[in-house]
Amino acid sequence: MTTKLIRGRLLSFKRAPLSMTDSASYVYEHDGALLVADGKIAAAGDYAKVKDEAAADVEEIDHRPHLIMPGFIDCHMHFPQMQVIASYAGSLLEWLNTYTFHEECRFVETDHAARIATHFYDELLRHGTTTAAAYCSVHKASADAYFAEAMKRGMCMVGGKVMMDRNAPQGLLDTPEMGYDETRQVIADWHGKGRNHVAITPRFAITSTPTQMKAAQTLAEEFPDLFIQTHLSENHEEIRYTCELFPEAIDYTDIYARYGLLGAKTLLGHAIHLSEREADVLSEAGSVAVHCPTSNLFLGSGLFPMKSLMRRDKPVRVAVATDIGGGSSYSMLRTLDEAYKIQQLLGERLNPFESFYLMTRGNAEALSMENDIGTLDVGSTADLVVLDAAPTPAMKLRMETIQSLPEELFLLQTMGDDRAVVETYVAGEAMKSVLA
Ligand code: GUN
Ligand code: ZN
Repeated sequence: MTTKLIRGRLLSFKRAPLSMTDSASYVYEHDGALLVADGKIAAAGDYAKVKDEAAADVEEIDHRPHLIMPGFIDCHMHFPQMQVIASYAGSLLEWLNTYTFHEECRFVETDHAARIATHFYDELLRHGTTTAAAYCSVHKASADAYFAEAMKRGMCMVGGKVMMDRNAPQGLLDTPEMGYDETRQVIADWHGKGRNHVAITPRFAITSTPTQMKAAQTLAEEFPDLFIQTHLSENHEEIRYTCELFPEAIDYTDIYARYGLLGAKTLLGHAIHLSEREADVLSEAGSVAVHCPTSNLFLGSGLFPMKSLMRRDKPVRVAVATDIGGGSSYSMLRTLDEAYKIQQLLGERLNPFESFYLMTRGNAEALSMENDIGTLDVGSTADLVVLDAAPTPAMKLRMETIQSLPEELFLLQTMGDDRAVVETYVAGEAMKSVLA
């Protein structure tokens, strides 16, 4: 059995923080350590106590004075959009039609998909992200590259071959039958292999015919434990066009409801412009609205009312994500900084404990994976991020005046990026330091 002792300041959440002073919602250990055995956390807590449980000759890695947290989780990204980031467009549909669909056509090439997959995982790990839920392209080759690379790195990843059979270039279309057959093949080839989870992935209602939506429904019935991921109510023009395409539906959410696609494992990207009725439907289904702040600002899509959705009588489950490549940063720190600013504009507060909860345990709960990832609890896989709040001269100077943990977290969120990530561990293995 390989064991190691990882020492530093530990921070992990037990539940969502109710306020800035809700110290019962987290565990903080100033001189803490994790004992990692065969990729799992075997003991966690005060360094001296944990060291007592370890063999005398255990390998020790000392990250003091840095913070050790569960690795970040990103609940919505697009693997084939690494070379789309920073494309100049007025709005979502212009951005999709002008740049994004064309770029995704390239993923029919196995070599291209494999090359980008290498960069994709390098970038996740460089930014401290150890789990993500991503869309591949329509091509099965893209899902093969995505899951093969996840297995090489031992990472827990959710992904799916996109289903789309209309309103896009020919090179990016399947058919209802192909979408169904190839999704089944991706499930057979990859689901449950390593730490891979396949998601049924109809891109959004604009790019799937009713017949393909029906095929997605059949898949959801045949594989009820699988994630389903799609987009919902991102932009007013998109909503109008979508509702024209499905005139029998009451609203955008009702389209997915009619095809049986709303459940507790459904991840709905954006979901910005929901009516009260739609929020009620999502709440009752237990589906997750995934907030993508850098993307929503970059594409001018709107201000996601995160806090008000969370505190409704019928609360909506919420997750946070980068939405690469509509999003403009791979960093969950940058992402929560933008989420904070959006709440400011809406007259709400997002405190730093809530932000760091959302990036870790909150997103793990959104994926129903909190027993394996998102915390430093004994028994979890040792997917970790090590953070330095003073990696740049400006942050170092600011740290001189910082006196508390929430202040330090807020600095990390406000000024931090990949430079703040000292190390990223996947199942107890240091990954960042070995990247090119
Ligand atoms: N809606 C449908 N496809 C996409 C996509 O690739 N990115 C974003 N942001 N929204 C979408
Ligand atoms: Zn998206």
